[in-house]
Amino acid sequence: MGIPIHRITICTSCKHKDETCRPGYELIERLRAAIDAAGDTITEEFEISGVACMAGCAQPCTIVYHSTRKATYLFGDIDPDQDIEDLVSFAQHYAVLGDGWCSSVDRPGKLRSHTLARVPAMMLAVEDSTVRMS
Ligand code: FES
Repeated sequence: MGIPIHRITICTSCKHKDETCRPGYELIERLRAAIDAAGDTITEEFEISGVACMAGCAQPCTIVYHSTRKATYLFGDIDPDQDIEDLVSFAQHYAVLGDGWCSSVDRPGKLRSHTLARVPAMMLAVEDSTVRMS
């Protein structure tokens, strides 16, 4: 097993409601700068990239945290002008969670009420046990 890679993926196709701008690109830049500025307060390295759509289009902008053998979180209604601090805080928390699982009260600020999905990393465990049994 290799070193887990932590990733943050941001939708670059989302548009602010009733507007044409695509805040995902700005969110990527601002979050990269904020994660860099946080330095060693984040114990894992995060790769931050964009993707065209994550099917949360009704709640722009969407962002996902994912990593090997950890739960995946999809958040919506994220605003680059208001939510960078919460996103960095969640990166700090997510980095130290063994299986990535946390309840809503452990998610900072707006992320507490704007979680669109929390997907457990259970399939990997099932696959591992299947391999061990064969
Ligand atoms: S356009 Fe952003 S989630 Fe679909």
